[in-house]
Amino acid sequence: MRDGDFELVTLRSGARAVRHCGHGEVMHPAGGPWIEANRLYVEQSQLAARLTESPSRTVCIFDIGLGAATNAVAALTCAQQLGGSIDLHSFEIDLSPLRLALRDPEGFPFLVPFHDAAQALIQHGEWSGPGGRWRLHHGDLLTCLPHAPRNAELIFFDPFSPEHNPQLWTPDTFARVRSCCRSDGDGGHLFTYSAATPMRVSLLLGGFFVGAGISTGNKRETTVGATKQSALVAPLGARWLARWQRSSARAPIGESSLLPEREAEVLGHPQFQFQADTQPD
Ligand SMILES: C[S@@+](CC[C@H](N)C(=O)[O-])C[C@H]1O[C@@H](n2cnc3c(N)ncnc32)[C@H](O)[C@@H]1O
Repeated sequence: MRDGDFELVTLRSGARAVRHCGHGEVMHPAGGPWIEANRLYVEQSQLAARLTESPSRTVCIFDIGLGAATNAVAALTCAQQLGGSIDLHSFEIDLSPLRLALRDPEGFPFLVPFHDAAQALIQHGEWSGPGGRWRLHHGDLLTCLPHAPRNAELIFFDPFSPEHNPQLWTPDTFARVRSCCRSDGDGGHLFTYSAATPMRVSLLLGGFFVGAGISTGNKRETTVGATKQSALVAPLGARWLARWQRSSARAPIGESSLLPEREAEVLGHPQFQFQADTQPD
């Protein structure tokens, strides 16, 4: 099945996924969409604990790159199961992947209970029901962000790779995403599948504190960004900084070489102002 630039494929694991016909990237290639969405985004962000700790609180989630809605529906499913409520904002420029996945209930069984919700999202740009409220920001992320709320607690950052979607991984984009994060509580937390050095440099320059995320599928590490350093479980430390200084890929995404002022910004980032006796790795 094909819709616009996208087609359905069956992974070696047997799971169905959506592939971009132009550059060939598959959404959630690691072990299948549902497993990765739950491990990397829902479980790692501790959404369940956030929902149960203060049941009357609504957790605001930015789902950047709605795609086939796997991450979005994983979050809604978690909220529904716990009787909690999320305020889910999905950002997407092209609705073909979602339309395709909705036409294949056998390949995307987790979407079936949310079929009507997803149709409402496509047609009206929003849906409310058990689990919370789901809003679509349809268009380019950078055009949509100024109209988004300023209280994002969790950000599922899932565009195509820096190679195929470079404009979404620059320091400027991360700074704009950061400006939408809530400042109270433990701040905002961004989760993404990439662990590439230039991407982490972009995140640091965008104003995030940056740490290692869980491993998933064939990735040894992923990445977590936070607006408060204390929220990171495994912050990048002296060892990462030393490796970065020796690396041949030191510039952030979108910049062809590392400018001296960028180097100074990274070295001067509050994350790397270590106390002699508390140096993180
Ligand atoms: C890897 S897929 C997302 C997979 C999705 N999170 C899921 O769970 O199924 C990346 C998505 O980002 C979207 N995208 C790419 N560039 C974008 C942009 N500038 N603004 C908004 N969305 C964009 C693509 O159309 C694609 O659907």
